[in-house]
Amino acid sequence: MSQERLTKKVVLVTGAAQGIGKEAALVMSREGAQVIVSDINDAAGLLVADEIGNGCQYLHLDVQEENEWQKAMDQILTRFGKLNVLVNNAGITGFQEGFGPQDPEHASLDSWLRVHAVNMNGVFLGCKYGIQAIKQAESGSIINISSRSGLVGIPGAAAYASSKAAVRNHTKSVALYCCQQGYHIRCNSIHPAAILTPMWEPMLGNGPERETRMAGIAKDIPMQRMGTANDVANAILFLASDESKYLTGIELTVDGGILAGSCAVPQKIDL
Ligand SMILES: NC(=O)c1ccc[n+]([C@@H]2O[C@H](COP(=O)([O-])OP(=O)(O)OC[C@H]3O[C@@H](n4cnc5c(N)ncnc54)[C@H](O)[C@@H]3O)[C@@H](O)[C@H]2O)c1
Repeated sequence: MSQERLTKKVVLVTGAAQGIGKEAALVMSREGAQVIVSDINDAAGLLVADEIGNGCQYLHLDVQEENEWQKAMDQILTRFGKLNVLVNNAGITGFQEGFGPQDPEHASLDSWLRVHAVNMNGVFLGCKYGIQAIKQAESGSIINISSRSGLVGIPGAAAYASSKAAVRNHTKSVALYCCQQGYHIRCNSIHPAAILTPMWEPMLGNGPERETRMAGIAKDIPMQRMGTANDVANAILFLASDESKYLTGIELTVDGGILAGSCAVPQKIDL
């Protein structure tokens, strides 16, 4: 049920055509925000904007392209007069894109750079143009979607993990910079893990093994289930709203307890 937690806030979400970005856009719109949906998948992005209704606008925005950020911010400020919240959500693993092996020994330099171009450069550019736009509003919040993989090593997805670690650290630089400058802009990172979205499709497949693979993943999660896009969208909503007004530079894990321990945690024993 809506409590209008984001009334009068103008919100831009990147990578919002599906998965976590789409759900965040829906949830924040229900809470009274004026949401702008952006992505490179225009057909799916337009459908999300239609589903949201309420004057929701779709913008084509490839986050790795600086000129597209400039154009998007100009359009938002012209149409809505301000920006309060930016969710830097767009991200790729390199698997769906068919970039080849992603381990440290065999990954190509080209694939390494392409993953970083979206995940790391995209967030850098988002923060840069987000700060410039949001500082004109009274206050605001930048939410960077990092990952559990930004906090630990991932041998089979090294570029993804490296780029998400950069997102985690840059978030703290942005948070401190905004405080130093006297801008009322908070900047925090969210670290999801094992969230069932289209990003997982290449890893789960459609064959008879799908259920077994999902059960195998759930077994290693303390809460014994994969997360949903809605689990992450609610964390985004909290960081977007004024309820989190004393939070900046934090890293919020949304991972069913994965990062609370390690696989070397002793099993339950009867004493
Ligand atoms: N699903 C998970 O388990 C999980 C875990 C940790 C972190 N994350 C992060 O959450 C974010 C969203 O993930 P998801 O699971 O919803 O992924 P997803 O693949 O379902 O959606 C990603 C969206 O980003 C868009 N996109 C890709 N490249 C883009 C670009 N250059 N510019 C703009 N948009 C682009 C895609 O078109 C897509 O709509 C990503 O940053 C991801 O790394 C996801």
